[in-house]
Amino acid sequence: MIYLDNAATSFPKPERVYVEMDKCMRQYCANPGRSGHRLALEAGRAIYRTRERLCRLFNIESPMQVVFTSNATEALNLGIKGLLKEGDHVVTTSMEHNSVARPLTALKAKGVSVTYIGCDSKGHLNPRDIERAIKKNTALIIITHASNVTGTLMPVKEVGCIAKERGIPFMLDAAQTAGIYDIDVKDMNIDILAFPGHKGLMGPQGTGGLYISENLDVLQMKEGGTGSRSEELDQPIVVPDRYESGTPNTAGIVGLGEGVGFILERGTAAIRGHEEELTGMLLQGFSQIKGVKIYGPANPRLQAGVVSINIGDGDSGEISYILDRSYGIATRSGLHCSPLAHRTIGTFDQGTVRFSIGYFNTREDIEAAVRAVEEIAAEIV
Ligand SMILES: Cc1ncc(COP(=O)(O)O)c(C=O)c1O
Repeated sequence: MIYLDNAATSFPKPERVYVEMDKCMRQYCANPGRSGHRLALEAGRAIYRTRERLCRLFNIESPMQVVFTSNATEALNLGIKGLLKEGDHVVTTSMEHNSVARPLTALKAKGVSVTYIGCDSKGHLNPRDIERAIKKNTALIIITHASNVTGTLMPVKEVGCIAKERGIPFMLDAAQTAGIYDIDVKDMNIDILAFPGHKGLMGPQGTGGLYISENLDVLQMKEGGTGSRSEELDQPIVVPDRYESGTPNTAGIVGLGEGVGFILERGTAAIRGHEEELTGMLLQGFSQIKGVKIYGPANPRLQAGVVSINIGDGDSGEISYILDRSYGIATRSGLHCSPLAHRTIGTFDQGTVRFSIGYFNTREDIEAAVRAVEEIAAEIV
């Protein structure tokens, strides 16, 4: 099987992820932060190691500012719903995933208003449009780092500067970039960073996280046991305990720590370089095939390793099915949980076939994908 669905979740993972998760489950998966025995302490130390590695990767000051969640969606919900209140206004973009758009829509019923900045037909955002949309009651600017439909990279640094100048919290959805592109929360003025653990960070599913700047008061979404301040009935306000009630996904977080360790060892530049090279190959190959339409920038420097295409008027679901059944190639079709993005690029009705590249893909994988699309196009067009 040739796996080109890394935007959904990365597969496979680095070997050390499997090895340490297995070791954790067999040797030290006690409940961290609860009991005081050796195994619980070892589990607690392993979780702390993951926090520290994430701090190194994202230039976060303190490991206590990293909150673990079960995926990027939970992190986005926590950041968005924990920060916004009645009467607040939010500026976001027309390329957002439903994990941003749906919480914002849910908040409309509670008196939060939203401005969606229209991006162009390749998904590009003009940061000046963000600036123009700011109102007196704008309480949050939130954008994706890269579209999960077209891969289009957003002007994060520019938007971060605008947010800082205007004193508005800036939240970044790094679902498609964490572990591949450089993210520096200080340099980019990011106040809240939401990331999945199971995509570019190469950890297992069931992991994700949120960085919250110490200057922000984000309300927790749940209350319960934290292992700390057990004498109090109120939720502790100390972080990360405030946001991490209940027994954590210890083995998953340990696996995430190994994924991040792998990235820190290789370096994001090497990972990005490899993915950029393969993205360039894929774009070049597809551009030569009659009847294939490529969406987005069609330039590996301007997009993450996500390439969306259509073949003539062909049904995207059917093409993805043929790629799987006849060629052993895993892709994703349809709207990719991002109807806003598909409306922006004009593919709401047809959807697209999405090929998404990961660090473990090879040049041979890309050649096989191009050959398969060539054969399918010859049949359809
Ligand atoms: C841009 C974007 N945001 C958010 C998410 C949600 O991530 P998760 O599946 O970890 O909840 C995704 C998932 O594909 C995404 O691509």
